Amino acid sequence: MKKYFLIIAVFVSAISLKAQKVDLNQKKVDAILAKMTLEEKVGQMTQITLGVVGTQTDGEINPEALKDAIIKHKVGSILNVTNHALTVDQWHNLLTKIADEAKNTRLKIPVLYGLDGIHGQTYTLESTLFPQNIGMAATRNLELAKAVTKVAAKELRASGVRWNFATVLDCGRQPLWSRFPETYGEDVFIGKTMGAAVIKAYEEDGLNKTTAVASCMKHFLGYSASRNGKDRTPIYLPEIEMREYYLPQFREAVKAGASSVMINSSIINGMPVHASKYLLTDILRKELGFNGVAVSDWEDIKRVYAWHHVASTPREAVAMCVNAGVDMSMVPSDFTFYDLLIEAVQKKEVSMARIDEAVKRILMLKMKLGLFDNPYPEENAKANFGKAEYQTLALDAAHEAMTLLKNQDNVLPLSKSKKYLVVGPGAQSISALNGCWSYTWQGKEEQWYPKDSKTILQTIKEKVGEKNVLTTTAKGFESPENFDADALTKSAKNADAIILCLGENAYAESPGNIADLALDENQQLLAKAAIATGKPIILVLTEGRPRFITNIEPKINGILMAYWSGKKTAEAIADVLFGDYNPNGKLPFSYPRSSGEIVLYDRKPAEDIREVFNDDVHTGYNPLFAFGTGLSYTNFTYSNLKLSTKNLTGDNNLQVSVMVSNTGKMDGKQTVELYSRDLYASISPDMKRLRAFQKIDLKAGESKTVSFTLNKNDLAFVNTSLKTVTEAGAFKVMIGDLSDEFQYK
Ligand code: BGC
Repeated sequence: MKKYFLIIAVFVSAISLKAQKVDLNQKKVDAILAKMTLEEKVGQMTQITLGVVGTQTDGEINPEALKDAIIKHKVGSILNVTNHALTVDQWHNLLTKIADEAKNTRLKIPVLYGLDGIHGQTYTLESTLFPQNIGMAATRNLELAKAVTKVAAKELRASGVRWNFATVLDCGRQPLWSRFPETYGEDVFIGKTMGAAVIKAYEEDGLNKTTAVASCMKHFLGYSASRNGKDRTPIYLPEIEMREYYLPQFREAVKAGASSVMINSSIINGMPVHASKYLLTDILRKELGFNGVAVSDWEDIKRVYAWHHVASTPREAVAMCVNAGVDMSMVPSDFTFYDLLIEAVQKKEVSMARIDEAVKRILMLKMKLGLFDNPYPEENAKANFGKAEYQTLALDAAHEAMTLLKNQDNVLPLSKSKKYLVVGPGAQSISALNGCWSYTWQGKEEQWYPKDSKTILQTIKEKVGEKNVLTTTAKGFESPENFDADALTKSAKNADAIILCLGENAYAESPGNIADLALDENQQLLAKAAIATGKPIILVLTEGRPRFITNIEPKINGILMAYWSGKKTAEAIADVLFGDYNPNGKLPFSYPRSSGEIVLYDRKPAEDIREVFNDDVHTGYNPLFAFGTGLSYTNFTYSNLKLSTKNLTGDNNLQVSVMVSNTGKMDGKQTVELYSRDLYASISPDMKRLRAFQKIDLKAGESKTVSFTLNKNDLAFVNTSLKTVTEAGAFKVMIGDLSDEFQYK
């Protein structure tokens, strides 16, 4: 008994210590705020890009420009790189100069530096890059997602950076969108559970620790729902849809402790989100209870005037956005925001109370990050950079992302003693395995990648020996040799099978806009030439979004979706192709057949129906590959689906269990997914919704029982009054090929 009292006492005092600390921080913040002038306050709300204070030489600071920014304009935050990633030491030098300059200000308020560490620490040379979010979603492994996030946090912090502009919580329901690879795919449940796990992983050690960074929820709200699929273009989003598919990820991330949020650059129903008090204050602050820093996205306050024409002057745009709830402006290339906000306050267009609220949040974040105690890059954090174990983790993550979409007549795994022709632009490309935010923003410049990064061609040679590998390819995605169909036809004569590496080279944001999801014509021609040889073909896709392969798929024997899976993508691909790793990734989106058939798995019933002369044809959900597809080299069977009750009532729980057996010959991992369907509801219910998943290991011949606990909240939906409700009635629960029904009252 005594022992329990002791545990409780320690627990209670830990909580009250934490509360005292927050209180103390609050007092310190209030004391600083009381001394600040309007200019100093507005300076804190101003964020500029490194280019403003940098020089032509990457990593070098222009001392005059730095003085102008920090002393004259009192800038509180800087972001970005000038061109490409820097070494840890270059970062330390640069950030030390910035911290030194901040010491010359009247109140010595430290500068907060922010970077985009999107799939690992993007902007430090030799950092470890992991799969993009889309690949992490395929792993369905929350612990793995947390583990890679902690490495990203350590490598950022080791570089002296304490604020990361990640993670992207935008729901990937528009596959054309060029930021699709940054999303966790089309499903809300994966997005909210993995997103929240990642936010927690960034911050849970405590922001003053060298293993944590402040995270950022991006991009509030609905950014991914662009109508035409182009980046930063108008969104039309009814609130019922917004609340059902786009808001839950942010709600969970706030609960997980996110310190900051970045705003959606675009307009929703005509309203710039940056200027929407409804979204930024009523929903984000009041409803979700978010208390951290809201930062604008790149130039987006200016664009409320310049692009969206909702404000008729740049100053009006500044006032609108700050009044709506933006705390910090990523201006980022000049000081106009600083000048205009001062004017707006003087003209009483923005209240001092609103300025104080924003500045308090910014100072509080700096306080929690320990910047007031030590504004310099932490020497002892450097030890956390580039540990050997990160490479192992990168391989684990890439392995678990690999998603086997097709394996006709068990063409895979391939024998190691045959001859292979490796073709296609992905074969000797590093950038097409990593994608956006890889040592540069676009990720295309291979000279900045670690020298030990491998290509698919290399790792295949390592598996089967140089003499067993033929190729017609050259380095770099765009090289003309990579598309030489005649060379392919000739070389194929001497090969037993063709490994066709197609997909997308790296791109980020608007430069990744495309007019069509069709694969580039030169890749299609290459695929057709490969098909014409009559040899077995294995297609390896390294791509950030689903490019149509419908016309070639029937003649392809095996298809491996590798996404952009970071440093160890090539190793993971070869391991899967040659049977050294049993694939277990599951597709986090519906791979569409064609532009007229982009239907998501959680569609409405009517989306499955084609009405032909009064006859309803139930076509069903018919993508090329369904959400959740992911083959294994072993077989998993499901049996014994059991529900603890057929009548779920009130707030009670329903236990669902199922037996999963590995009936094949190889050990493997399997993600057991539980879906539900509300059979009839006051609005047309979704056909299927993922409600829970668990990833398990099963040895060949082994069986395990997997249990899930559901309650009414897991079955809820947003109704026409915009309330999240669970209505009484019949529900179906589905796991694997099994299903059962129950009633909720
Ligand atoms: C992107 C953000 C990013 C910011 C800073 C913007 O263009 O939309 O996601 O955090 O740039 O690099």
